[in-house]
Amino acid sequence: MLIKSKDNTAPKSFEITPETSYWSRREWLKSAGIMGAGLAALSSVPGVVSAREESWQEILNSKLASSRKWAHSTQEPPTPYKDVISYNNFYEFGTGKSDPVENSKDFKVDPWRVHIAGEVGKPGRYTLEDIFRPHPLEDRVYRFRCVEAWSMVVPWVGFPLADLLKRFEPTTKAKYVRFETLVDPDRFPGQRFGRSTISWPYVEGLRMDEAMHPLTLMVVGVYGKTLLPQNGAPLRLMVPWKYGFKSIKSIVKIEFLEKEPKTTWQQLASQEYGFFANVNPEVDHPRWSQKRERRLPNSIWDPNWMPTQKFNGYEEQVASLYAGMNLRTHF
Ligand code: MTE
Repeated sequence: MLIKSKDNTAPKSFEITPETSYWSRREWLKSAGIMGAGLAALSSVPGVVSAREESWQEILNSKLASSRKWAHSTQEPPTPYKDVISYNNFYEFGTGKSDPVENSKDFKVDPWRVHIAGEVGKPGRYTLEDIFRPHPLEDRVYRFRCVEAWSMVVPWVGFPLADLLKRFEPTTKAKYVRFETLVDPDRFPGQRFGRSTISWPYVEGLRMDEAMHPLTLMVVGVYGKTLLPQNGAPLRLMVPWKYGFKSIKSIVKIEFLEKEPKTTWQQLASQEYGFFANVNPEVDHPRWSQKRERRLPNSIWDPNWMPTQKFNGYEEQVASLYAGMNLRTHF
């Protein structure tokens, strides 16, 4: 047992299981007649509960039904659900804002594994069941600011990234966390040959203290429902004080590193997109102002401009992470 579950509804003896031992446990269950044919026989005996393992979707559904309201949500009105799921940036599905909703209709999450690597005591390839099972979910309404100067207010559902990372026992050498999105041109049309200038996978990274900050959320849902493919199913990051490109979608790899990783947008244009990418109205993008933002939904008649807030309004909670740093050079 790596961390004690705070969720009374979760199985008490849960262990996060590296894939190899996960499969061998299944083999053992099979040979003991608890799965498959043995399962049918057992479930016909009154009082014997089915031993079938819950799927990740079943685990998630019951957790979504019992998620708790976070006490510190912004009181600003949330952007309507229809806009959150139809105005997206997800280059794996195409570069247009409506490409993700249009091109993700047939996206299947399964099969999915999350590869944990690098400076950790518990590396392995974990199932979504293993990832989700011990974490109670919270509903958190965050401001969300894209580097392109549009913004939303989104009711995400998730759990603190720190709670997940601690379960893998990072070593003292772990100073950064690097994240990767799935590469699968069959599932992501934007990754098919010649369709993009991005060299896949999409990569993002955080300093360890940013990753462990209580505002950094591992998101599995939005508006109380399971995350849709266009928003980064089955799990994506949400770092509310940073520009949206840091909030990587559809994560399949989390690696703990000694050195700062190179991210996708740095590789594409390092003079425009830095590693930190903290929302900052005082530091403009080389090609446009960051002093204001268009809050969605909007229109050409009503662009709904509003001033951008330092650290996207989370200055009180996160400014100390950057004490003494020059935010113009560390943008
Ligand atoms: N993650 C991946 N894998 N690929 C992407 O293209 N786009 C980023 C971020 N995460 C992106 C990604 C950008 S630029 C933004 S603004 C947000 O996702 C958009 O999230 P949303 O579509 O849920 O609003």
